[in-house]
Amino acid sequence: MDDRPRFTVLAGSLRTDSLNRAAADFAAAHLSVKGKVECPDLAPVPLFNEDLELSGDPSPVQNLKQAVVSSQAILIFTPEYNSGVPALTKNAIDWLSRPYGAGCLIDRVVGIACVGPSSRGGENVREHLLQTCTGLTERVYPLTLGVPNVFELESGRLPAIAEASIKAWLDEFFTFSRKWFPETN
Ligand SMILES: Cc1cc2nc3c(=O)[nH]c(=O)nc-3n(C[C@H](O)[C@H](O)[C@H](O)COP(=O)(O)O)c2cc1C
Repeated sequence: MDDRPRFTVLAGSLRTDSLNRAAADFAAAHLSVKGKVECPDLAPVPLFNEDLELSGDPSPVQNLKQAVVSSQAILIFTPEYNSGVPALTKNAIDWLSRPYGAGCLIDRVVGIACVGPSSRGGENVREHLLQTCTGLTERVYPLTLGVPNVFELESGRLPAIAEASIKAWLDEFFTFSRKWFPETN
């Protein structure tokens, strides 16, 4: 049996040259040395609708929930839109929050990060998401990561300075999360 820690990494942007998608991919590669990583695609996840939920979770939602339930730690890389949480990110969290009071994020460590062009590194989205996730699990990593002043990918990658700050944060996140990982870690 694989008793390495298990991570789910979510990217809250659909665009091809997304900074946050690149950050999520970088994080997944870094964490894959430490454990098993899943990156469920949020694109096919439908808008949350209680009627849809009543008739049974659609398969993209089942895939998303399954990844999260089988992980000890969840990393969310999201842009900031209009000083808040983009619909794609919030929609995924809304599905994961269900059923009310018994959602999939309970007992999962959650880390929140934003990469973007602003000088404040998506301070608002990180603050909003921290508040939302704190209502869904007691294991939110309180130190969110903002990677400011990143404007575009360079040959498909984030600038080296951005990758370095993500790597350092992931290592701190790993240390914070460790007590909830399988005992051999
Ligand atoms: C609808 C929209 C609203 C935005 N609002 C903000 C904002 O409030 N704060 C901010 O720092 N950037 C904002 N931006 C810029 C994004 O941070 C930037 O486009 C970023 O690269 C998006 O993330 P991605 O590269 O992962 O797609 C906005 C972009 C869009 C498309």
